[in-house]
Amino acid sequence: MGEKQKFSGKIGFILAAAGSAVGLGNLWRFPYLAAKYGGGTFLLIYLVLAVTFGFTLMLTEITIGRKTGKSVINAYGALNSKFKFIGYLSALVPIIIFPYYCVIGGWVVKYLTVYLMNEGVAATQDTYFTNFITGTTQPILFLGIFLIATATIVVGGVEKGIEKFNKILMPLLILLSIGIALYGLTVPGAMEGFFYYITPDISKFSFAAVIAAAGQLFYSLSLAMGIMITYGSYMKKEDNIESCVRHIEIFDTGIAFIAGLIVVPSVFAFAGGEQAASASGPSLMFVILPRVFDSMKFGSIIGGAFFALVFFAAVTSSISLMETIVSMIEEKTKWNRITICIIVILLGFAMALPSTLGFGVWSSVTIIGLSILDFFDFISNTVLMPIVSLLMCIFIGYIMKTDMIAKEISTSEKFKSRKLYDIVIKFIAPIFLILILVTSILSVFKIFTL
Ligand code: PHE
Repeated sequence: MGEKQKFSGKIGFILAAAGSAVGLGNLWRFPYLAAKYGGGTFLLIYLVLAVTFGFTLMLTEITIGRKTGKSVINAYGALNSKFKFIGYLSALVPIIIFPYYCVIGGWVVKYLTVYLMNEGVAATQDTYFTNFITGTTQPILFLGIFLIATATIVVGGVEKGIEKFNKILMPLLILLSIGIALYGLTVPGAMEGFFYYITPDISKFSFAAVIAAAGQLFYSLSLAMGIMITYGSYMKKEDNIESCVRHIEIFDTGIAFIAGLIVVPSVFAFAGGEQAASASGPSLMFVILPRVFDSMKFGSIIGGAFFALVFFAAVTSSISLMETIVSMIEEKTKWNRITICIIVILLGFAMALPSTLGFGVWSSVTIIGLSILDFFDFISNTVLMPIVSLLMCIFIGYIMKTDMIAKEISTSEKFKSRKLYDIVIKFIAPIFLILILVTSILSVFKIFTL
């Protein structure tokens, strides 16, 4: 293994990290939460949390990565050998998420293909999506395609693979999203939905709205997945971490907001406000939106552009997950990158099979009432991620102390938000993380709904 790979500079780093952050969460969950929790009110809460809670956690992860120059599995141990276990726990998260994220990525590739072949109308039928995911050959085939697309980028390395592709895909993603949003707003009835989306409805301000915003932000910024630590380890010492974090957040929140402009007004025009606030996740993306596109003039072009957008968002996220896993193996072995990538996609494929078959031939298998894919999602997102982040806050805030973070940040420039940072990492972030953990576990068991 030669010299540690690096991003070429600030822009490459920001685009890669933003590529990871902008994903399915921005497209299929943010619009729904915003519509549900009073539009502008939710946006406002989200923004306040982004510059405090989100900022602090992302800054910490990137700084840990850059300071240690290690992959997530070794980074905590490098800071303090007694806390190695946080690294092991964190390493589990991408290993669990990567396979099932690729299953969903495969669904996206399938829909992109359908639109490219100008067969979008078929996707409007009631049973189309269910028929597809309950099958065996097709979901496995598209999963394989998505995995290979991801690996083809990762195998190129940090600068010539990940950075290069993000520099192409992220600008395309912005153009596509703005284009689709603008077109969607011209549909009769969409303007009403637009105002519904942006006008603050103060009566919807609630404790649940704040927790929902914090949880969404946490997932949307790709926190607690080891990703930001890994990408941070590829960052040059002269780049300013604080300013990078701000740019990544602007990117991520901007795309989430535009996704809302695509989804809310068009669903509103198509089916009314009730629907706009009730649909999220796969049913929104693979069932409702194809119908919405079908009702539009040039709908098949818009649908194709939309699924290209979703594909770019998903693949730039999955490469960050895969790189996080590859970097751990690279550090532990002397194998070359191609060998490691082949091993990771083969194992990823094997681990993804139960998730995909869980909708079809293995649909009788449920764990705590959840399908296999949902169970993996539950363990990683709902349980492990808040715990990992909470441990990180305690470790940095109380054991290592924040001077260590401040010192690393100051290698490039003065740490401007130091005071805010100290308060958030020691007190505010832990409280939010505990609330996210408890409420999301309760909501999986339907005791409380967000
Ligand atoms: N931040 C991503 C999103 O908003 C989530 C994610 C990133 C999931 C990377 C997996 C891998 O969708």
